[in-house]
Amino acid sequence: MRMVDLIAAKRNGKAHTKEEINFIIDGVMAPAVNSPVKDYQLSAWLMAVCWQGMNLDETAWLTDAMARSGQVLDLSSIGPMIGDKHSTGGVGDKTTLVFVPLLAAAGLPMAKLSGRGLGHTGGTIDKLEAIPGFNSNLPVGKFIQQVKDIGAAIAGQTTELAPADGKIYAMRDVTSTVQSIPLIAASVMSKKIAAGANLIILDVKCGRGAFMETQEAALNLAEVMAEVGKRLNKPVSACVTDMEQPLGRAVGHTLEVIEALETLKGNGPPGFKDLTFSLGALALARAGKCQGVFEGMKILDDLISSGKALDKMRELIIAQGGDARVIDDYSLMPTAKMQFDVVVPGSGQKWVEHLDGRLIAEACKVMGAGRSKKDDAINLAVGVVLKGKIGTMIEGGQSIATVHADDEISGKKAVDIVAKAFKYSDMQVAVPAVIKARVGS
Ligand code: URA
Repeated sequence: MRMVDLIAAKRNGKAHTKEEINFIIDGVMAPAVNSPVKDYQLSAWLMAVCWQGMNLDETAWLTDAMARSGQVLDLSSIGPMIGDKHSTGGVGDKTTLVFVPLLAAAGLPMAKLSGRGLGHTGGTIDKLEAIPGFNSNLPVGKFIQQVKDIGAAIAGQTTELAPADGKIYAMRDVTSTVQSIPLIAASVMSKKIAAGANLIILDVKCGRGAFMETQEAALNLAEVMAEVGKRLNKPVSACVTDMEQPLGRAVGHTLEVIEALETLKGNGPPGFKDLTFSLGALALARAGKCQGVFEGMKILDDLISSGKALDKMRELIIAQGGDARVIDDYSLMPTAKMQFDVVVPGSGQKWVEHLDGRLIAEACKVMGAGRSKKDDAINLAVGVVLKGKIGTMIEGGQSIATVHADDEISGKKAVDIVAKAFKYSDMQVAVPAVIKARVGS
């Protein structure tokens, strides 16, 4: 078998066999010098997949091969139900940072394998690096032991868990090959299979800030992941959720950690809190810990108001080597040198009608918050705090957002981009629903 022939076959719209998919993933995992799949060939193949797609058989084989590129954990010794959740990527999506300690505090052990930033979207592992000392590079033994000890762990990809996804993910990020339903499905599901949890909630984002811009495409992705899960014995529940505008108010690594900590302290912004609680209540209902979503929400609310969810976050940070003093002193995290206001044009009362999540991500990238090359360092301090979201009433001349920058040139560029992200109406605008559809068990 030759990789060049497989690239040509996919370019011409042919379906791969299981053996061909295994050949590609074995090649990705082989040492570079004698691998039959060179980096440049992998990127050409990824682009061919973006254009031609894959059928469900190919997607399930790819997922299985990627999951088996490392260890597939058996967590049954921890308990009958182990939770995990995964988002397909968005702007300002810090859900994991609240969901994991919250659900762990509710008695559902959480074994979470997360990723770094991808395309225009941020990654949980990068965000956690804003906490000094936080180590998400957990060897498998420590990952399992930590879930046993404190009921929660958040790890990034190592060479032990779905390492093929780690390599392909980094390559997709810098070759513009992220936006593909089979590649996203295989990436997400391979990690979920490898990490061993059996109660999996998928948050499939849709809108301008997501990889799937339409609800139809997001639903399709959710259905593909549910079907792949079924075929590989890993049933999932998936929700299609709004990512037209950023989630919550903060976008940028440190700023998002602060918003997550504020949410655990009971001060979460409505859209973000609604989403996290809805997904959390769904997980509790599936785990048999409540009769329905309403009771689940009440349990989660109590865990926030009693401080138990925040205590669990403290335990998690300490267990992973982080400086838990950040919970009470945000200045211990990287902080931007300057702030600029983005001002609403004109005068008089108006409502935010549109807020383009993709442009907010672009503004952050201009200030150094994203990668252009695989090994680029990112600026954890910069970002944008949105004072208004779709449906907010505001006066012309008021500040609608604050840009946190490390230098004046990039800060001012970001202000221009953020200003373009907002559109206003003279008529009242409704706040959009966060959850749009549900798929799977
Ligand atoms: N999240 C992942 O883990 N993989 C993708 O491809 C997209 C989002």
